Amino acid sequence: MAEPHAIYLKDYQPPRYQVEHTELRFDLAPDATRVQATLQIARAPGTASDAALVLDGDHLTLEHVAIDGQPLEPGEFEVTDRALTIYTVPERFRLDTEVVLAPASNTALEGLYQSNGMFCTQCEPEGFRRITFYPDRPDVMATFTTTVIGDQAATPILLANGNPVERGELPDGRHFVTWNDPHPKPAYLFALVAGNLEKIEDQFTTQGGREVTLQIWVEQQNLDKTAFAMTALKHSMRWDEERFGREYDLDLFMIVAVDDFNMGAMENKGLNIFNSSAVLANPDTTVDAMFQRIEGIVAHEYFHNWSGNRVTCRDWFQLALKEGFTVFRDQLFSSDMNSAPVKRIEDVALLRTAQFAEDSGPTAHPVRPDHFIEISNFYTLTVYEKGAEVVRMLCNLLGWETFRKGSDLYFERFDGQAVRVEDFVDCMAEVSNLDLTQFMRWYSQAGTPEVSVDSAYDAERRTFTLTLSQHTPATPGQDEKAPLQIPVEMGLLDEQGADMALVIDGQSHGSSTVLNLDESTKQFVFEDVPHAPVPSLLRGFSAPVKLRQTLTREQLSFLMRHDSDGFNRWDAGQQLALKELETLMAAYRHGDEMVLDEFFVETVRSLVETPASDKAVLAEMLTLPTEAFIAEQQTTVDIDAIHQARRFAIARLGDTLFEAFETLYTQEQSDAAYAPDFDQIAQRSLKNVALAYLCASGREEAFAYARRQFEANANMTDVRAALTQLAHAGDTSIGDPAIRAFGERWAHDPLVMDQWFATQVSRPHEDALERVRFLMAHPAFSIKNPNRVRALIGTFVNQNRVNFHRRDGQGYRLLADVVIELNRLNPEIAARMVLPLTRFKRLDETRRALMLEQLERIKAEPLSRNVYEVVDKALT
Ligand code: ARG
Ligand code: ZN
Repeated sequence: MAEPHAIYLKDYQPPRYQVEHTELRFDLAPDATRVQATLQIARAPGTASDAALVLDGDHLTLEHVAIDGQPLEPGEFEVTDRALTIYTVPERFRLDTEVVLAPASNTALEGLYQSNGMFCTQCEPEGFRRITFYPDRPDVMATFTTTVIGDQAATPILLANGNPVERGELPDGRHFVTWNDPHPKPAYLFALVAGNLEKIEDQFTTQGGREVTLQIWVEQQNLDKTAFAMTALKHSMRWDEERFGREYDLDLFMIVAVDDFNMGAMENKGLNIFNSSAVLANPDTTVDAMFQRIEGIVAHEYFHNWSGNRVTCRDWFQLALKEGFTVFRDQLFSSDMNSAPVKRIEDVALLRTAQFAEDSGPTAHPVRPDHFIEISNFYTLTVYEKGAEVVRMLCNLLGWETFRKGSDLYFERFDGQAVRVEDFVDCMAEVSNLDLTQFMRWYSQAGTPEVSVDSAYDAERRTFTLTLSQHTPATPGQDEKAPLQIPVEMGLLDEQGADMALVIDGQSHGSSTVLNLDESTKQFVFEDVPHAPVPSLLRGFSAPVKLRQTLTREQLSFLMRHDSDGFNRWDAGQQLALKELETLMAAYRHGDEMVLDEFFVETVRSLVETPASDKAVLAEMLTLPTEAFIAEQQTTVDIDAIHQARRFAIARLGDTLFEAFETLYTQEQSDAAYAPDFDQIAQRSLKNVALAYLCASGREEAFAYARRQFEANANMTDVRAALTQLAHAGDTSIGDPAIRAFGERWAHDPLVMDQWFATQVSRPHEDALERVRFLMAHPAFSIKNPNRVRALIGTFVNQNRVNFHRRDGQGYRLLADVVIELNRLNPEIAARMVLPLTRFKRLDETRRALMLEQLERIKAEPLSRNVYEVVDKALT
């Protein structure tokens, strides 16, 4: 196989031919779907008249090709696995092509495929070229008319983008529907769905008075799981009008739930297609965290209608233009709808573990990558989450009102266009008069900046000097890093824990200010400081950096209790716990007995015993830093010490503070009818954190609580929390009856069975790996379904670190086996799943060698471009 080659941002060329209108006709059949395309094409101004027309086409079988009705002769064109080239074409013309596809055997789940018999599509980023010959690039935008023809019995429902304009019956029990989408769009936003579906329907009136019909289409058995998403959709539509002034622009908005789907969801114009796990929910089957995730994803896809669809990307290097902005928008939405501090805590936790890990590994790339082999590999935490942090920094620099003006300007100026990151940032510069030249480095420079802190108090001069320095470690292909513009929001706490008045250069800065760290090192001198303060830095996590600051336990505990910034209160608690865990880890490594520090126990006790003003935040405060987070702090990751220390700390806390947790657990019981609302979710989280500590003590009374909670069967959040505690007990006889009961009760529901898989394979005991192998043979598991793979394999690999990283290398071997199989079936998922095997840099030598061995084993296979790109980076 030829070595896949990379594509570079700097090589961008505008399209030589534009498509003005696209007419598609699908005659659906599982093994032979006919696709006829009629494209109105015009040569772009400035293009030479002898420029060949090159259309993308990924392994398509061409049956017919004609220009202005005239079939082409063999010497007039060429077809390869990747393209159709027509050597000479007129300035304006009609192109007709016909191809035949086999959706039933499409296991990659890109292009047109089948899921439980339903036909559906996924085109972003480059799936449309698997459907028909086309200039499959986002800067080619056309209006679309789509006729879908299908069997009346198997596919009574036929959907595509826009509005239905015609429908009718055909011979042989077939029928058709024609759809028209009046908004010019790139091919990646095309969608088609055909199947035996049922819907719920609602109505929304936009602020401008447009009556919009809202539909959610699902398989019949899932109708009782659609109400929540419908409410979330209506909230999103209202919110986008109120917060961003964005209104919906068609008379119909549809969501379809599909079981086999590579990602969360897709924002196709007027016809969003969702992974069923990202839309279906009800209290019996769905946990609180999932309700919140669904609300966020429904919003995200809806928000794309403006940030992505109306204004789209010039090329795929600009992916963060739409994704970073849209994630920022959905974060803001969720934070308005739920607990703002908890939303921020969760987002930062994800960034600081998973995104930071990406930034320090072999697949590190800038928010705007400058080259790729396979663009599907770049739907990453860096593009999405760090991309959102960059937009958040812009918003904070400008202030909300000005940021909103910049956003309005961006949407007005570029409506209907395919643009670049610069266009967005330029709007922000224009409305604010800020020079954002240096800020643009956030888009081009990979890696996580480290900010170190030095401070000195001068009692005589009454000054406090903060010296901030930044350093970004080298990443693959980027050895030298230039200084970034890092906004460091901060305050100084006085002896009582109140914010001091901040004075710099005789200027008052209120009680919290933003320091602009835009050089390698910068000094900030605060005046009129009566005594040594405790600094609170990076409030609200004002920049995606690693803060290197040495605070004492006393200072951390002080910040934890007094900081006016909620995020930093939580973070101080996490740092304090981290210090404690590091002490335990050192003891573990030296073979000493681990002893939990009294001061720490008492700090936790006071949290548990003081009535909570915010239960949601308290639940977060009581959760120790995750193993993934602790690993991110270490130069050499000690898998076992991290796991043992954390487990020990939880067990000791559970045992020492048993009565306090018991009181908390009892106190937070409620018999209110389930609602996934803010107050209830907070209460359940707190209660279930308490239950986890109780069970960690290993006492039989604790498991009795869990058993009772499991059997009460009040809602999935409580059932699953209880099941987890039972199933994770060392003695399998504690968990087995509940596992069996749950598996039998929910055998008919794949999304619940995913939770059943996940709960079992995250079990922190040595038998976990065997459990994975055993469950892979379970009838409810299928390697072809990405949700099953993520639930069973993904959970084991990412949430059960100590067993994935087993010293005998069996965890790595298991993952490599799965990757090798997936590489043939579904390259996109394979390339995602292989990532943990590339994070060997900071592991001990034995594990590093074992991982490399498995990577070499994968490398020896005939690889898809997706997997090739990742494995090649890791081995270089
Ligand atoms: N644009 C979609 C979203 O973020 C994701 C599509 C990703 N597609 C893919 N093949 N990776 O909402
Ligand atoms: Zn998106």
